[in-house]
Amino acid sequence: MAKVTVIGAGNVGATCANVLAFNKIADTVVMLDVKEGVAEGKAMDMLQTAQTLGFETQIIGITNDYSATANSDVIVVTSGIPRKPGMTREELIGTNANIVKSVVSQCLTYSPDAVFVIISNPMDTMTYLTLKATGLPKNKVIGMGGALDSSRFKYYLTTALKANASEVEGLVIGGHGDTTMIPLKRLATYNGTPVSALLNAETLDKVAADTMVGGATLTGLLGTSAWYAPGAAGAYVVESIVKNYKRLIPSCVYLEGEYGQKDICIGVPAIIGRNGVETIVDLKLNAEEQALFEKSADAVRKTNAVLTEIKAL
Ligand code: 2OP
Repeated sequence: MAKVTVIGAGNVGATCANVLAFNKIADTVVMLDVKEGVAEGKAMDMLQTAQTLGFETQIIGITNDYSATANSDVIVVTSGIPRKPGMTREELIGTNANIVKSVVSQCLTYSPDAVFVIISNPMDTMTYLTLKATGLPKNKVIGMGGALDSSRFKYYLTTALKANASEVEGLVIGGHGDTTMIPLKRLATYNGTPVSALLNAETLDKVAADTMVGGATLTGLLGTSAWYAPGAAGAYVVESIVKNYKRLIPSCVYLEGEYGQKDICIGVPAIIGRNGVETIVDLKLNAEEQALFEKSADAVRKTNAVLTEIKAL
């Protein structure tokens, strides 16, 4: 069985830890936070649901003592500030880059073999920073954005189709940003049937547009960034790693020529298993999709360049 550490016991980190415990994805879940008492309190609160909900997972809440995270199989990084209404994910870079860099290096000291799942925003750039700052092999660093964006795409598709959530498939590639993500309308299906057979182009375009601003819509409603879907999507990626399910999950991974891109972490379909990124699936995009992908990669690269400006890399 597995030990999973979640860094950051805010809304996203705590939701992820809760799903990991409740769904018995790990047998030990460590939550670590910088704020005194928060991780301990949330761990205790979750453990008080163990009998009611029926799980035996050990949940440990810790303030800043990284030794408690030792020998984790997977480390989920949610640290940093979330966005406020009107903010883009990219605007968080100045604060979050140094936090993520320091968190990752402290985790590595105690868990040199861990696979890292990065959720902190701007997620594509934080994934790139993790890879570059640690020198870890590229299979060990996965950015969680595609799983979340795809779940939002499926939500909006399900709503438009009036279908059951389990019967709709779709994936979102590209950057995890309001203007950089690419919902692949052409490949979405309803029980194996292309959704274009059931939805007109205008409806499908609206589904894609709603998906792209899915996070911003929630930030507007909630006053802070969303957590149920981000936390659950993080746990979904972790489950594929620790149980070696080899799920195909759109994930932010390091490209070395795939999709015509090099030296960038960006969302593409990948097989996720015990080794982290097992295989990058090199999907044949059509010309329109490829052009969008290139535009998305340019935008992610621009954000990555800030890492040098602020001396995080
Ligand atoms: C979101 O899209 C937190 O980036 C995350 O809600």
